Amino acid sequence: MATNVPQDIQEIWQMDLDHVIHPFQDFESFKETGSDIMSKSEGSHIFDAYGNKLLDGCAGLWCVNIGYGRKEMAAAIAEQVVDLAYYSTFGQLTTPPTAKFAAKLAEYAPGKLNHIMYSTGGSMANDTAIRMVHYYWNAKGQPNRKKIISRVDAYHGMTYLAAGLTGIEFDRIGFDQEEEIIHHVSVPNVYRPRDGMSPEELCDFLVQELDDKIQELGPENVAAFIAEPIMGAGGVLVPPEGYHKRTQDVCRKYGVLTISDEVVTGFGRLGHIFASEPVFGLTPDIITSAKGISSGYLPLAATIVTDEIYDTISAPREDGGIYSTGFTYAGHPVCCAAGLKNLEIIENEDICGHVLKVGPYFEEQLKTLMDLPLVGDVRGKCFMMCVENVGNKETKEILPPEARVGDRIAKHAQERGALVRPIGHLNVLSPPLIMTTDEIDFLVSTLRASIEATQDDLTREGIWKG
Ligand SMILES: Cc1ncc(COP(=O)(O)O)c(C=O)c1O
Repeated sequence: MATNVPQDIQEIWQMDLDHVIHPFQDFESFKETGSDIMSKSEGSHIFDAYGNKLLDGCAGLWCVNIGYGRKEMAAAIAEQVVDLAYYSTFGQLTTPPTAKFAAKLAEYAPGKLNHIMYSTGGSMANDTAIRMVHYYWNAKGQPNRKKIISRVDAYHGMTYLAAGLTGIEFDRIGFDQEEEIIHHVSVPNVYRPRDGMSPEELCDFLVQELDDKIQELGPENVAAFIAEPIMGAGGVLVPPEGYHKRTQDVCRKYGVLTISDEVVTGFGRLGHIFASEPVFGLTPDIITSAKGISSGYLPLAATIVTDEIYDTISAPREDGGIYSTGFTYAGHPVCCAAGLKNLEIIENEDICGHVLKVGPYFEEQLKTLMDLPLVGDVRGKCFMMCVENVGNKETKEILPPEARVGDRIAKHAQERGALVRPIGHLNVLSPPLIMTTDEIDFLVSTLRASIEATQDDLTREGIWKG
């Protein structure tokens, strides 16, 4: 760390280095440089402990949708802490925010998704969905329906089962996987389609592949298909037109349940509280939600299920068993109060309307980066975007991992006052949904300068010939 840093900041840096195991830690570089310390925030900006103001192109981790430093959120949270900081929601106990927020979620969720099981993170929401699906099929008298189909490059979290659903190869290195229940089909990647297929051909292929996979596993053994409407951490992959509707039709044909993981796409990121139906024509059996549900102010997640699933899991069992599962902090009153206030802010400020209006401008401006030699693709929708950096635009060949192209661009951007998230050779942009066109202009011009600086570095170091 820099030498002219106040003593207390140095101590924090040292405590972190000595004691924190960070998620997704590259221990080698961590041990070399430690962590950047982020300490304050306002609107779309973060201030690090060294006084630098940074435009946050990541909304934390796709989550601070309403932006930072909202006093109304602080007041709602404080009020609830004083009224009732915690009570259990096990069995027949509830709290006012727990019930009110569930009713709000049911109001916004499509179709007959009217019942909410709470948890505190996206991984837990997905784990809960799978446990519930298994319980559902047992109750239906179809106990063989246990297999879950997910997709290569999907990201569904990092609890044991959610990590199994996640299909990103790099995240599996060195870990064990659940392989009995979970199976994967191909990724809908139109930038890197298999065998150079057109988007239409790719869509036909993927729909048929899912059908074949269900048949191979035996429809009587398949419980559910899980998919993000737009794949996030796997590379912000927007599927070919009609993909979701057609895969849902395949699932319905075989009685397979559908789970739409809206942990990232929900709460305004694509201009709707839930994107499944308005953007993709989907009416899933289950929606999982987290992140923007509370804009990251407090940990909160929801598994939202249909009347039919609810009626099935709530019917009395002959063996006397009950739906014995849940978490201490399910429906936590303070987190639900934060959820209610977050939703109220989204509604009152018409944040979804802002995203629908400004989102296309963001897409258009980012696409201007396509003239840079290093940029192979710019894709995404509204406030969920990604730049894919390549070594060769024609062949789409990726630079070797040691080029650390995404990291370098992110570092250059941070030095220039903006945060963009590196994922391998990609840079992901998922800003707070309140971002203005001026801030978008700054973000895009900073990214351009950072990619150019990276091109210069790579050329100078002989890693890239342009
Ligand atoms: C689509 C999706 N699902 C689930 C998760 C897991 O959420 P969490 O990290 O809150 O457990 C994430 C996290 O990024 C995600 O992007």
